[in-house]
Amino acid sequence: MCGIIGYIGKTPEKVLFDGLKKLEYRGYDCAGMTILRAGKFTTYKSIGKVDSLKEKLFFNDSLGVGIAHTRWATHGKVSIENCHPHFNNDLSICLVHNGIIENFHVLKDDLVKRGKSFYGETDSEVVAKMFEHGLTIKKVKSVVDNLTGSYALLMLDKTCNDIYFAKNKNPLYIAFDDEKVMLTSDSSCFNDIFDSFITLEDGQYGKVSLNELEIYQDDKKIDRPKVTKCFKSKAIGLGKYSHFMLKEIGETKSVLRKAIKFYNARGIKNIFKNLPCGFEKVVLIGCGSAYNAGLIAKGYFIDAGLNSECILASEIEYESHDINEKSLCIFISQSGETQDTLKAMDFCVKRKAYCLSLTNVVHSSIARKSHFNIDLSAGCERAVASTKAYTAQVFHLYILAFLLKNRNSQIEDLVKEIKEYIDFENIEAKNIEHFAKKYLKSRLLFFIGKGKDSILAREGALKLKEISYLPAFDLPSGELKHGSIALIDKFATCIAICSQAKTLSKIASSAEEIRARGGKVILFSSVDAGELEDCFDDVLYLKSSGKFDIVNLIIAMQKFAYFVAIKRGCNPDMPRNLAKSVTVE
Ligand code: M6R
Repeated sequence: MCGIIGYIGKTPEKVLFDGLKKLEYRGYDCAGMTILRAGKFTTYKSIGKVDSLKEKLFFNDSLGVGIAHTRWATHGKVSIENCHPHFNNDLSICLVHNGIIENFHVLKDDLVKRGKSFYGETDSEVVAKMFEHGLTIKKVKSVVDNLTGSYALLMLDKTCNDIYFAKNKNPLYIAFDDEKVMLTSDSSCFNDIFDSFITLEDGQYGKVSLNELEIYQDDKKIDRPKVTKCFKSKAIGLGKYSHFMLKEIGETKSVLRKAIKFYNARGIKNIFKNLPCGFEKVVLIGCGSAYNAGLIAKGYFIDAGLNSECILASEIEYESHDINEKSLCIFISQSGETQDTLKAMDFCVKRKAYCLSLTNVVHSSIARKSHFNIDLSAGCERAVASTKAYTAQVFHLYILAFLLKNRNSQIEDLVKEIKEYIDFENIEAKNIEHFAKKYLKSRLLFFIGKGKDSILAREGALKLKEISYLPAFDLPSGELKHGSIALIDKFATCIAICSQAKTLSKIASSAEEIRARGGKVILFSSVDAGELEDCFDDVLYLKSSGKFDIVNLIIAMQKFAYFVAIKRGCNPDMPRNLAKSVTVE
């Protein structure tokens, strides 16, 4: 993952620090910055979140050139030595890198044989050591030609005030005006600073100064790179909330209302008028929560009479399937930058499939590379755990399945059908907080359900483990007795999910089996358990409202995970070992 940023202009320390704060969601193991002024490098590095760098920085208002990096460790432990920027042997060139250099062992062996020494363990330092002195476009090209893997690279040479760059498979954007230049992993860093920006494509490299931008591809200079307008950003604060995760869960309802308003105003037929017909199969593809959204949606497409399957992006190359020119491949990704999903898209493009994406970032790589993009419009999601974006993914996929089934239907039909689904009651957070506290000491938490509820259980377990670090798993309730029941003792707590009356008695039987072995069971239900309530230790009822009633259950599970994390003293917005955008394979 990692976030990189480069800048030429006044107050570079401040601009780069502010930029790193915006990029921190991409990794927060350590942060570093190098500033070049009057032929001299000044470097700052610090372990931990970007704020830890602030106290070390010497802010200077004068003109300077700088590059900075916030790290999510891939190769080598979290240490100052492994923190970027990295330097070549004579310390005349430094660089920051986002990505993974797959052949770095071979390159390193070769460099060692040629007398180069290393201070750290990263693949990025190997790239730095490949440079002698005197950076030129030609040298950048010859170095990157030897790299296998993914990279967005920014490089500085002590002897000039240019920033050199190269990009392959990891995002890189450039913006400039008469007074300043910025290069970064995320175009949102430009908002309110520049009017427009350029998106670099794979295989491009070049250099930029205050007066000139040169971009090359395959040894040829690119004449007119496409320019995109920057957004005016709204300040995103916590408001009355203590964490972004809780705030973002709270925004779910307004995100869904906004989506309905959008479909209503534009008309679904208009929005999808360029979407081809006649697909023989729908293939949903994503990672983590996005994959879980795809699993739920698979049921919607099957109900709409379409042959459908859901594949983990990272597994697509290793599974059997028949993706071809008759397939509609749907790539689900909040960030739009997930490397596994991008790679899966390449795989499907090679098989001539039609690629539709569902992203929350309109300029993202996945959105740009697909034939058709649906903008989730869920608003910026800052917390690492996906909440409102996950629910929005499920919702937009529901609409898409509806559209593919009823190509000629009017938006009114749809609105009538779904309005009730989101008119859900606010969930009583206090009850959920109470359960979180009560079952906090459990050594094992697991989620069960039947049918679509077992897919919700999967998302519940993912959310809980990623932010509270508790071992959590999920399974269809009927599977318990086939092995996992062996794990149950008095320290185990089960969250049973039920949104279908027909499954309640089966869930109750599983609850009895768990309780007979000392485990506790909480039922999260949108159906009345009646006399079966006694089969559970606790019951949380969630208002049911039509087919989209899963929204309430999703929110309840997200809040449960949130409160468990808080009570265990974990930071749910920035859980350990994770990053918001997973831009490595
Ligand atoms: O940006 P994406 O939606 O492609 O990200 C996919 C997963 O990395 C993501 O959903 C991850 O599982 C979340 N942290 C889950 O909360």
